Amino acid sequence: MSLLSFQNVDAFYGRAQVLRGVSFEIGAGDRVAVLGRNGVGKTTIVNTFLGIASLGAGEIRLAGKPAGRIRTYTAARAGISVVPQGRRIIGALSVKENLVLGSAVERRGAWTLDKVFDLFPILRERQDTPGTALSGGQQQMLAIGRALMANPALLVLDEPSEGLAPVIIDELAEVFVRLAREGTSLLLIEQHISLVRRVAQTYHLMSKGAVIESGRLAELSDEQLKRHVAV
Ligand SMILES: Nc1ncnc2c1ncn2[C@@H]1O[C@H](COP(=O)(O)OP(=O)(O)OP(=O)(O)O)[C@@H](O)[C@H]1O
Ligand SMILES: [Mg+2]
Repeated sequence: MSLLSFQNVDAFYGRAQVLRGVSFEIGAGDRVAVLGRNGVGKTTIVNTFLGIASLGAGEIRLAGKPAGRIRTYTAARAGISVVPQGRRIIGALSVKENLVLGSAVERRGAWTLDKVFDLFPILRERQDTPGTALSGGQQQMLAIGRALMANPALLVLDEPSEGLAPVIIDELAEVFVRLAREGTSLLLIEQHISLVRRVAQTYHLMSKGAVIESGRLAELSDEQLKRHVAV
């Protein structure tokens, strides 16, 4: 089944057009990377299905159905959870409260606070501390845990490696692969080549708001990849 699809999507911030005719489809079990340099429109893909950027033309389908009017919870209810770029942890809430926030959408599934704590034991230890008192890596784990609390069919990760040490990126890669094996589809927006290689199977490459190339990662050399990402 198709979890998320864009068909010829144009997207805007006010009158400024950012996405131009973007098309792609993500199905159950897919592990898809979106690649491209800074400012090409990767996050705007996310912002468009979240209703933050406006859809000018084309169609977005969530869980196989035309999205219609997109509200705050539209994507989450359709089974798409986002780990946003920059993590967006709420500092006024504890670790535990940040996680509980993720379950507000009330989608049924296997994820509970306890299961998230089993996945990231450090969050159990620090559950009563303010979310923003955590290290960068721990905040990323919290953002991932919060997204899982909504029981997504598709987990969208927007530059999860940003600002993190290589050893933490390694740990996250293992977690993403494990989630994929257990049945969660992944959309990974990244510029970190080895993370992309470990986690994703197919890619869409963006330039100036458009998808300029798509294919299987195994068929793309590191040299070709490096030409299109910043690191
Ligand atoms: N809220 C906004 N309002 C207006 N313009 C925006 C907004 N967010 C992003 N833009 C512009 O849209 C373009 C695409 O931005 P976007 O954040 O999608 O890029 P990106 O590929 O995610 O970049 P990065 O790798 O730096 O995260 C950029 O020119 C950016 O300045
Ligand atoms: Mg971005």
